[in-house]
Amino acid sequence: MIEISDVTKRYPGGHEALCSLSLAIGQGELVFLTGHSGAGKSTLLKLIAAIERPTSGHVIVKGQNVGRMRRAALPFFRRNIGLIFQDHKLLYDRSVFDNVLLPLHIQGLTGSGAFKRVRAALDKVGLLKKERARPITLSGGEQQRLCIARAIVSRPALVLADEPTANLDEAYARDIMDMFRAFNEVGVTLLISTHDHDLIRRYGGRNVQLAHGRLMT
Ligand SMILES: Nc1ncnc2c1ncn2[C@@H]1O[C@H](COP(=O)(O)OP(=O)(O)OP(=O)(O)O)[C@@H](O)[C@H]1O
Ligand SMILES: [Mg+2]
Repeated sequence: MIEISDVTKRYPGGHEALCSLSLAIGQGELVFLTGHSGAGKSTLLKLIAAIERPTSGHVIVKGQNVGRMRRAALPFFRRNIGLIFQDHKLLYDRSVFDNVLLPLHIQGLTGSGAFKRVRAALDKVGLLKKERARPITLSGGEQQRLCIARAIVSRPALVLADEPTANLDEAYARDIMDMFRAFNEVGVTLLISTHDHDLIRRYGGRNVQLAHGRLMT
């Protein structure tokens, strides 16, 4: 599903966030990405989502070299990926409901079938009662849950989540993780960055640990 080979990412200014990193993730895997602050977790997720491009090396996702992908091809590529990132990019002039509906609209799904799926996704993250609210009126944790609903509504084959439970209390963190696990059980590949080692102990899966842009073995 994902093949990272000999990838280096140097940001403008010269900082090497990832150094000759190689990693393969198979379809249906549940992978936790850990490491100290600044280890390169978010950078790795951004390279896989083609939000950033590698300075050298290859990032292959479902057979496609995403580091070399044309800009115009990116939206189509991302359709099949659920992205949960720290900068939410919610649409603040639309309702909670519309934010979750949008990915389905882009896929051409409309009408009552789409509405049902939006409500089911909002229900899963505990935001059904706030469907008419504007995202700006939600708390940080609620906005995070809204992002999760938006990321999963289109039933993507791959979910990339950057510290998805960071601002959530224990109960919601557990709900969200249970939901991720249920996805994993039906074959969804998940790559989740986290600082929460309890979470990993509880959910198992594979742990990929980064330190200073390199894999710890
Ligand atoms: N856009 C950027 N420009 C320059 N340097 C960056 C940029 N983004 C990240 N970095 C640097 O790259 C390194 C890795 O950052 P990254 O965000 O991938 O770490 P992280 O493991 O996600 O950390 P955290 O746990 O704090 O989220 C850090 O030293 C960071 O300062
Ligand atoms: Mg990060």
